[in-house]
Amino acid sequence: MSKAKGMRKGLAGYGDAGFSLFLRKAFIKAMGYSDDALDRPIIGITNTYSGFNACHRNVPDMIEAIKRGVMLAGGLPVDFPVISMHEAFTNPTSMYVRNLMAMDAEEMIRAQPMDAVVLIGGCDKTVPALLMGAASADVPAIMTVTGPMITGSHKGERLGACTDCRRLWGQHRAGEIDEAEIEEISGKLAPGAGTCMVMGTASTMALVTEAMGMMLPGGASIPAVHADRMRHAEATGARAVEIAAENLRPSAIMNKASMRNAMRVLQAVGGSTNGVVHLAAIAGRLGFDFDLEDLDQLGAETPVLVDLKPSGQHYMEDLFRAGGLTTVLREIQDLLDQDCMTITGRTLRDNIEAQPPTWKQDAVRPISDPIHQGGGIRLLRGNLAPNGAIIKQAAATKSLLKHKGRAVVFTSLADMADRLDSPDLDVAADDVLVLQNAGPKGAPGMPEAGYIPIPKKLAAQGVKDMVRLSDARMSGTAFGAIVLHISPEAAAGGPLALVRDGDEIELDVEAGRLSLHVTDEELERRKAEWSPPSHVKAERGYAKLYYDEVLQAEDGCDFNFLRAKPRSLHD
Ligand code: FES
Repeated sequence: MSKAKGMRKGLAGYGDAGFSLFLRKAFIKAMGYSDDALDRPIIGITNTYSGFNACHRNVPDMIEAIKRGVMLAGGLPVDFPVISMHEAFTNPTSMYVRNLMAMDAEEMIRAQPMDAVVLIGGCDKTVPALLMGAASADVPAIMTVTGPMITGSHKGERLGACTDCRRLWGQHRAGEIDEAEIEEISGKLAPGAGTCMVMGTASTMALVTEAMGMMLPGGASIPAVHADRMRHAEATGARAVEIAAENLRPSAIMNKASMRNAMRVLQAVGGSTNGVVHLAAIAGRLGFDFDLEDLDQLGAETPVLVDLKPSGQHYMEDLFRAGGLTTVLREIQDLLDQDCMTITGRTLRDNIEAQPPTWKQDAVRPISDPIHQGGGIRLLRGNLAPNGAIIKQAAATKSLLKHKGRAVVFTSLADMADRLDSPDLDVAADDVLVLQNAGPKGAPGMPEAGYIPIPKKLAAQGVKDMVRLSDARMSGTAFGAIVLHISPEAAAGGPLALVRDGDEIELDVEAGRLSLHVTDEELERRKAEWSPPSHVKAERGYAKLYYDEVLQAEDGCDFNFLRAKPRSLHD
């Protein structure tokens, strides 16, 4: 690897290095920089601001603060654009575009002359995309996030996106909230800059990033509008200059041991199931497979401690006031590998010990009195999910965690939209709702459609939860007895594609089993009749790349060729 620094790094190819540097200087001087400035370590800053991304509304202010930190430490900050995306503004799904953002970040970090880079993540897919890109580029990198929104309120009730979005929409569907009021509520759920303030994917990914050591301590939970958010950004900029000098690369921080710490924290915070997919993708970039059995085992030993919606009662600003991730880490300290190196240049143990003592608070339970014993996310296997499926048991109705029922099958998102609310739908509360063809290829982009709404006629009778299965994902802000990420997905010919109305399905979360009670012979017969949906291929553009290369959930839905070690067999 070249030892060139700053402006001399990675010259454009004109066949004459001296000329390439001369030309580069000529153009950068057009920005008004002095020679002194150009001799400093160059710190890139990923500008993920977008007018479509409210979760990144405060990025311009953060860039100012990061630049201040870089300059106070003697570096030259240079921000540059990378793709930004918001969950509600990305068709078909943000997951479909996540790998494009990761490719953008990787290539622009590598292509441009920077000695270190500050990654500004926030909305769900942006944090994993930036970490995936940074892991592959392996230039010294430090992450910060836009931070959670503060809560809103409606008629005296505290509201948070998007657990309360779903809850209140459910009430609207059941006829309890009228059209005018639901419209009014839409103006109160997301009251300003920042990310969803429940334990959704954005909060989860921020916390596991801090736990993995890629973010300065405390950064995950500081609200977007709090002055500490800017101080953290400033400190991040200053530290970026130091990691450039130390050549502290992502590969020295993100490894199997820190990934296990991330899995522990994912379980202890009751994190989003999306965290499993994203961590698997990051692992693939680092050269190892994400171990679902390990996640399950760590989960069995790690209780859920954080009392946040959707499985608890508080919001991210409450976790911030409770001391943030450090308070959680202290409770599970003995379960963590504390020797892991972090972006501070010190170990996780040193970071924990450097934080002020914990005070009395009620957002993080003591390990002796958890919210839920035995982890938030459980791995399921069985003839319906040979390569695995997961359930967020901490957010499910307990009585449904062991359940046998009759399948009511929807063959696609469109089929579900057409028939779910029909008064003629043959469905009862103890049936199992099954959604097919909503996986990585099927939808495409593995949408957060796993939270299949309760059919209208059952919702009107007061049914709040049912066992629901799919190859889709679910927003971390949702709740219910919902089995997700069934692999292989239906569109790839997995057994999920073979389920028919009336089949008996058995879920046993304690045993980690998901079973389809249909004989092997009958499944063989159905498989012989099966053909893939016609849409799972494309002739050109990003869609072609996506369909040709996307892997299943257990590989994080990354593109095969982007893994450190691409799999030799893929279809
Ligand atoms: Fe951006 Fe929820 S929509 S974090």
